[in-house]
Amino acid sequence: MEPVQRWWEHAVGYEIYIRSFADGTGDGIGDFPGMLDRLEHLAWLGVDIIWVTPFYASPMRDWGYDVADYTAIDPTYGSLDDFDAVVARAHELGMRVLIDIVPNHTSDQHQWFREALKGPDNPYRDHYIWRDAPADGSLPNNWVGYFGGPTWTLDEASGQYYLHLFLPEQPDLNWRNPAVLDAFDDILRFWLDRGVDGFRVDVAQAMVKDAELRSNPQIAPSDESMFRWDQWNAFEHRHDILQPESVDIFRRWNRIAEEYDALLLGETYDLVQMDKLDRLVSGGDAIHVGFWFGAMHMEWNAEQIRAAFDLPLTNISAGLGWAQDSHDEHRSVTRFGGGDLGRQRALSLTVLLMGLPGLPFLYQGQELGLESGVIPPEAKLDPVGDDDPNSGRDGTRTPIPWEPGPGMGFTDAASTWLPFGGRTDADTVLVQRELPSSSLHVHRELLAVRKGLGEIATEPLKWIADVAGDLVAFRRGAIAFVANVGDEPTELPVDGTVLFRSGDGSGATLAADEAAIVRIG
Ligand code: GLC
Repeated sequence: MEPVQRWWEHAVGYEIYIRSFADGTGDGIGDFPGMLDRLEHLAWLGVDIIWVTPFYASPMRDWGYDVADYTAIDPTYGSLDDFDAVVARAHELGMRVLIDIVPNHTSDQHQWFREALKGPDNPYRDHYIWRDAPADGSLPNNWVGYFGGPTWTLDEASGQYYLHLFLPEQPDLNWRNPAVLDAFDDILRFWLDRGVDGFRVDVAQAMVKDAELRSNPQIAPSDESMFRWDQWNAFEHRHDILQPESVDIFRRWNRIAEEYDALLLGETYDLVQMDKLDRLVSGGDAIHVGFWFGAMHMEWNAEQIRAAFDLPLTNISAGLGWAQDSHDEHRSVTRFGGGDLGRQRALSLTVLLMGLPGLPFLYQGQELGLESGVIPPEAKLDPVGDDDPNSGRDGTRTPIPWEPGPGMGFTDAASTWLPFGGRTDADTVLVQRELPSSSLHVHRELLAVRKGLGEIATEPLKWIADVAGDLVAFRRGAIAFVANVGDEPTELPVDGTVLFRSGDGSGATLAADEAAIVRIG
C-alpha cells in the first residue's frame, strides 16, 4: 500500500464562519481574538484543518464575500497581529489553516473598481467586465445571477454595463486580463508568506467567462419572481461558468502553492456538467481538491445518497472535498427532519462522509448536532432569499453556543449580530462536554476512529455488491461504511467488528437511521 503522500489526504477539515464562531472583543460579532481562545476545542475534537471564511476589509454587503482589500483584515475581526496569533496557535495545536480567497469578484468599494468607474480609459477599467448598452434597451446577454435576477448593472456615467454573477455590489473580475492574474499571485504569496497552509477558492467554477459573453441556451421559462435556483436552472450554463481556460489559472496557482506545500481547495460548485467540472480540476494538477455539493442537495433516501457519492467518484479525477453543512445551506439536521430524528440522520450521513475517498469537512456547530437557528423576519440579514424561508442563509449562520448564560459564551455583548436563533443549554459545548453521550462526544469519537484508519486513505471505494434497498454500504479495503436509511432495523451486510456506530442498534443489527463502521473479517 502506498503511504499517504500529502498532508491533507487523511485529514478532517472544519469550516469556521468567523462572524459567528467566537467574539473576543465584546461587540457581538465573532473575531480573531475570540477564535484564538477556542482553537483548543477544535484540536480536542480531532480537527486537522480549519478553513476560515473571509475576514478581509469589506463593506459586508455579502458578509465579507465582498472584499474591498485582499491584504487587510477588517477591523471588526481584529488586526494582522491577531490573525498571525491564530495561525501560530493553530499550528502549535497541530492544525493547518486555510483561508477563503474570493477571486471571482471584488466589492464595489475595492480601489480597483472605484478607479474603473472613472471611465473606459482608466487603467483599472479592464479589471472588470464591461459591455456597451445595446441600442434596443436590452441587456448585454441573458445570464442570470446566483442570487437570481440579471447579472448586469448600468454605469450611467459611461453608458456601459458591468457584469456581476452575485450582487451589483460584487462586480466580477476579468480573469482574461493578465494584470488581474499578476495581482492575485501577489495576494496568494502575501498570505502564504504569513504562514497559511492553503486556500479555499470561492466560486472557482465561474472565474473565467466566455470571451464573447454569449447568451446561455434557455431550457425553461424564467423570470425574476421565481426562486433564485429555479431561475438559475432555467438555463444551460454553457458560457458563464466552467470555461476551459479556468484551469490555466489554477495551474499557475498550483505552482505557487507547491512552493509552500499548500492546498488549493476549490468551491467547484456545479452538480450537472460533470465533464466540464472534471476538466476544471484536471486530475489534481491545478486545484488539488474540489468540493462536491451533492450531499447538501439530497433527501434522506438511499438511492439519492448513493447517487450523490457515485456521480463525482466516477466522473471527477481529482481529490474530492465532502460536506453536508456550510454557511450557505440549511443545516442537515433541519433538512433531514429536525430534532432527534434529524440529528440521528445527519450523524449517520457524517459517518458515510468520513468513509469517502477525499477530504471531509464539518461546519461549525455540526459537532453539536445543531439545527438551523430560527430567525424572525425583522432580524434577517442575508441579502438573498428573503422571500423564501428555505433559501435564506441566516439560519445556518447563527452564533455558536459555547456555554449556558446570556451571551452563551459567544460574547459579552448584550446582543449579537444575528440572534442565537433558539439555542438551549443542551446545545452548548460546555454542557455537551460533560455528557459522554452528547453529539459532541460522538463526533469526537467518530473522528478518532477514522484517524485510526489511515489504511483506507489509498483504498478506492467499492460498493458492497448486492446491497440495495434502504442500505447504503461501501468498503475501503477491509473497512466497511454502512447506513440504514430505512425505518426498520436491518442486519449489517458484512461480518466483522463494529468500530463505531451512530445509534442504538446492537450486534449485527442496525437500527433505523443508524450507520456503522465495520472492520470486515
Ligand atoms: C460562495 C460563498 C457564498 C457567497 C458567494 C459569493 O458561494 O460560499 O457565501 O455568497 O460565494 O461570494
